[in-house]
Amino acid sequence: MDLIEQTTAEFSNRFGTRPEVVGRAPGRLELIGNHTDYNGGYILAAAIDLYTAVAARKNNSSAVRLYAMDLGQSIEFDLGKIERGRSLHWSDYTKGVMVELRRSGAPLEGFDAVIHSNIPIGMGLSSSAALELASASALKGLFGHTIEGMELASLCLRAENGFCGADVGILDPFCAVYGKEKHVLFLDCLNMKHDRIELDDADFALVVADSAVEHSIVEGKYSQRHDQCSSAASLLGKLLDREVKLLREVGLDEFNSVAGRMPHIERNRARHVIEENLRVLAGVEAARSGDIATFGRLICQSHHSSAVLFENSCPELDKLVKIAVEHPAVLGAKLSGGGFGGCTANLVRRDGVDDFIGYLEREYEQAAGKQTRTISCSIGGGAIVTIYN
Ligand code: GLA
Repeated sequence: MDLIEQTTAEFSNRFGTRPEVVGRAPGRLELIGNHTDYNGGYILAAAIDLYTAVAARKNNSSAVRLYAMDLGQSIEFDLGKIERGRSLHWSDYTKGVMVELRRSGAPLEGFDAVIHSNIPIGMGLSSSAALELASASALKGLFGHTIEGMELASLCLRAENGFCGADVGILDPFCAVYGKEKHVLFLDCLNMKHDRIELDDADFALVVADSAVEHSIVEGKYSQRHDQCSSAASLLGKLLDREVKLLREVGLDEFNSVAGRMPHIERNRARHVIEENLRVLAGVEAARSGDIATFGRLICQSHHSSAVLFENSCPELDKLVKIAVEHPAVLGAKLSGGGFGGCTANLVRRDGVDDFIGYLEREYEQAAGKQTRTISCSIGGGAIVTIYN
């Protein structure tokens, strides 16, 4: 049984009838463009073939009953009282989307739903955006809202920033909406122009490796980096004698002309973002010409810059990357997402994946005294809704 069938079967067990709809959305791997999104920069990423599914049916009342199959937990609340508790709960992602849908004037009624996912939580694969988009897709199928594309990604981002209180950027919901098999995703976060670039993954896999250091984005370090980038931007504005709102607005030559006058932290954060944007553009060119070796090299450079200039790596992530790049099947390896823990993304030739995984698991345990969990992924598709008659 696939994920959608499992979710549908659980829905029938629990609610004694089949669901009317199933929404499904993917996790993502950031490939190049680390911490560029909220700086108005560029992103190159891919949806992966790990998904969250939400099977749902109207219940002709004002009650919402959600069951998280993987946690064995349920929650019930009334449409008139969509609130969150003091600490973040799994249902807040669905609730946050409901609040934003309602704000946009979308119709909502009571419904029953089962949530099921094969995206590991806390590994940095964006299980939260997948749940938001799977929920939004199921609600589209049930109640017929017409919000889609970038508007839907932005709505889910507002849910995450507002209701869920996580200070993140557009990367995750963008990938969950626009994911497409055999395509990497490019986004210009300044004007939201985006593109899907065909990159056949028949010859390579995206291997995710968990550092076993839990990353928690709601905690301070991500926001601290966000603040440091904002103050670097306003400082650059002063030094260049013009208004600079986002680091994206500053070119490398311009930056270099005043970098010597910036304090160490702001200088390094800004250099990372400005050079990382250029790496994304080089990555787009490499992807377009199918030059996977160059693509891999850019991925390695991205990690190095994150570790040294942005300082959002940690010893475990650095070990995973260092071990990975010594394997002959590996084209590139980097931390993916917020950093400070979570996972690495490894671009690996398909014929070497099994050997690489065994090697990485052995060597990482020896080097870090921790066990990594690895998952070999292909590029996945974006959010969809299946409607049953
Ligand atoms: C997390 C956030 C994204 C992005 C990355 C870093 O994954 O959710 O918005 O900022 O970190 O690139």
